[in-house]
Amino acid sequence: MSVAAILVAAGSGSRLASTRPKAFVDLAGEPLVVHAARRLMAGGVVDTLVAVVPADWVEQAQRLLPRAHVVVGGASRVDSVAAGLAALPAEVDVVLVHDAARALAPPTLVLAVVQAVCEGNPAVVPGLAVTDTIKQVDASGAVVHTLDRASLRAVQTPQGFDRATLQRAHAQPPTGAHTDDAGLVEALGTRVLVVPGDPLALKITTPADLAHAERLLQ
Ligand code: CTP
Ligand code: MG
Repeated sequence: MSVAAILVAAGSGSRLASTRPKAFVDLAGEPLVVHAARRLMAGGVVDTLVAVVPADWVEQAQRLLPRAHVVVGGASRVDSVAAGLAALPAEVDVVLVHDAARALAPPTLVLAVVQAVCEGNPAVVPGLAVTDTIKQVDASGAVVHTLDRASLRAVQTPQGFDRATLQRAHAQPPTGAHTDDAGLVEALGTRVLVVPGDPLALKITTPADLAHAERLLQ
């Protein structure tokens, strides 16, 4: 099996509100994208790394990640993943898609996702049980429904796919905004397996998340 990882790092980070794109913001002295790439590659199962970055950051990304293929992302996360898919070498059979914003996702999580895909699952996502009670609300803010928490999972990345499945998912006509790749695979009607996630794979979204990640590294 040849495994590639698409590391999406082309977002602006509007909620972090830094002067640079979020993936290039430092955490304990190194950019988030470097943390994420190091942990993706540490287990030794990822053969190819494709980093997807904003157009102005290609040279900087290539300096930071000399082993990566660096490509330019798009306006949405789905567009950025598609740009990464288009850059994959022919021999790749398994594709991980990972957010640079989940900079501390540990190598054990990467291995668990790859293993589940290699066991024959076409789409595998890490997920954590939800501890808050989640309510669906209408436009006025009134509760429509309380969801059954026991059946809910908060999903993370890396998400792993059989390459052909992910390419079919991305080739579908657009059906609204998808915040992850598993959503596109679900739209195909293909089974998506959730495996245990890891609290370290939190998504760094706000300044408070960045501070929390700094504390986790200490
Ligand atoms: N991403 C991307 N291309 C985009 C949008 C997002 O590659 N057009 C990437 C981000 O770089 C990030 C991951 O997708 O690693 C998850 O997105 P998110 O956390 O929303 O990051 P941003 O879009 O950068 O942040 P914000 O939504 O606050 O602007
Ligand atoms: Mg975003």
